[in-house]
Amino acid sequence: METHPEMFAPYERLIEVEILGRKRQVPENNSILRCLQFLQMDSISNADLCWNGDCLNCQVWIENKGKEKAVISCRTTVAEGMKIIRLSKDLPFATVGDTERNK
Ligand code: FES
Repeated sequence: METHPEMFAPYERLIEVEILGRKRQVPENNSILRCLQFLQMDSISNADLCWNGDCLNCQVWIENKGKEKAVISCRTTVAEGMKIIRLSKDLPFATVGDTERNK
């Protein structure tokens, strides 16, 4: 599948977050789920996801002040330095095999 820039909210720069212990560059102003898609376009695009807050398949856990906090990634905007420490089993995000841009 090709990348469609218009699927992302407008952004001017990439920000650094940590996903499963690995530093990644993702587009600011976008939901966490869009950022996962940015990194792994095919698998996230083809996953069983509603993208509108209904299915909860996109749940991720972020570290917040030393505690885990579950958030709905399609409804949560990414932030610089965010640490995503766990992903729903329904999110097909591999720790290897990114699309070219983040290798
Ligand atoms: S994708 Fe369904 S709730 Fe986020």
